[in-house]
Amino acid sequence: MNDSAHIELVVHGGTVVESDWMGEADLYVADGKVVAVVAPGGRPPEGAESAYRIDATNRLVLPGGVDPHCHVGFTSGEFTSLDNYRECTTAAVFGGTTTIVDFAIPRSGQAPLEVARAQRDQASEGLCDSALHASVVDWDNSVPDQLRLLAAEGIVTVKMFTTYRGESMASADTILKTMQVLNEVGGMVVIHCESNPIIEEDQRRSSERGQIGAAHMTTTRSELAETAAVAEVLAIAESIDAPVYFVHQSTPAAIELVAAARRRGVRAFSESVAHHLVLDDRSYAGEYPERFVCCPPLRSQATVHAMTKYVFNGEITTVGSDHCCYDTAQKEVHQHDVREMPNGLPGVETRLPVLFSEFVSKRGLSASHFVRISAANPARANGIYPQKGSLRPGSDADIAIWDPRAEWTVGIANLHMKTDYTPYEGMNLIGRPTVVLVRGVVVVDEGKLVNNSARGRHVPAGPVGQLR
Ligand code: URP
Ligand code: ZN
Ligand code: ZN
Repeated sequence: MNDSAHIELVVHGGTVVESDWMGEADLYVADGKVVAVVAPGGRPPEGAESAYRIDATNRLVLPGGVDPHCHVGFTSGEFTSLDNYRECTTAAVFGGTTTIVDFAIPRSGQAPLEVARAQRDQASEGLCDSALHASVVDWDNSVPDQLRLLAAEGIVTVKMFTTYRGESMASADTILKTMQVLNEVGGMVVIHCESNPIIEEDQRRSSERGQIGAAHMTTTRSELAETAAVAEVLAIAESIDAPVYFVHQSTPAAIELVAAARRRGVRAFSESVAHHLVLDDRSYAGEYPERFVCCPPLRSQATVHAMTKYVFNGEITTVGSDHCCYDTAQKEVHQHDVREMPNGLPGVETRLPVLFSEFVSKRGLSASHFVRISAANPARANGIYPQKGSLRPGSDADIAIWDPRAEWTVGIANLHMKTDYTPYEGMNLIGRPTVVLVRGVVVVDEGKLVNNSARGRHVPAGPVGQLR
């Protein structure tokens, strides 16, 4: 510890949970960073007597969540999701997430570098910090230098899509070339995998049957479409020894492909998102099927059940939210034709409570494993660990103090996302954050926003290419 650091804050009496250990300990904070973690009986650092004290008795003390997949003000087709950095990060901190990773996706004719810089500049409006994925859709000779400049500015992950023709879909050739450049600069492609030809054919047939509305979402995007695209992209990455991170994997088949590649030495990683682990396609038979339209779609009960194993066995590297803050009105406009609908579900605020409740409280996942997949591994995969996703000395004092026994019912009236619905409405959960700190400042205290100053910073990423 820096001798001159003035201890401002002590979080005492709680159980500190890191991704690789947990135990009773007091956390000491100075200048917005953790400076000491002291087990009972240990010697507190000097100068801590006058520090502000937060009692965490009977609470878990977690590193704030890192959401590796969060769309802020995302435009797709004619729709833009409804939140900005301030609104999205407000919801994030209420849910215990203190770092979001957003996307800068170029529209036709836009340069990835300019789009990423503009998106990055919004970080300062946030209540918490953020990192950013750039994106490449079309290849031209300027792309390699743009990617090199982005890497030098701390943006090393690049989102690509194998679907959404005419919007953000990239060719296999562009994916390979992007991976090659990122391999040079310690970067990594993060990719949405669904085979577009299979999907377009699925959709054509569904449309012919008159079944192209939201209630028929599952038949328009098959599990096979996901498996096929994952296999192709894995082969591309393996052929040039490039790392690759698959976003929102929703099926055991897709996860197994990635796990098998990893066993062969490929640097390949599986992200899943909360709704694919908890919700299933019965939602499309309910009153508001449009509210559940996302890509990949919610899968069958059997598939969702089978995904549990991969949370426990570690094959799922990270769990994100894939937050897209559309409201019901936007979802309803084209509810009779999913090809025209805005895809995606609001979830930045519910990701951690839902995951904790369904896996830690109800199925016995260890709290350390929860931290690993929801904070530490997302930070690692984005080159911002251990500044984020950890509470070791030197890490930012982003802290979620968590009541593991709190029982509550999810309802949009008590959430803060800029929409009028949550896909988890009425779900009974166990566990929630009670106090949330961003770089040592209490922002949420017992359900109240107690500091709403814009304090967000863009967190530059270090290399991620060596991740194993
Ligand atoms: O349905 C989704 N996931 N919408 C957001 C964009 C994307 O594909 O990640
Ligand atoms: Zn996607
Ligand atoms: Zn997404």
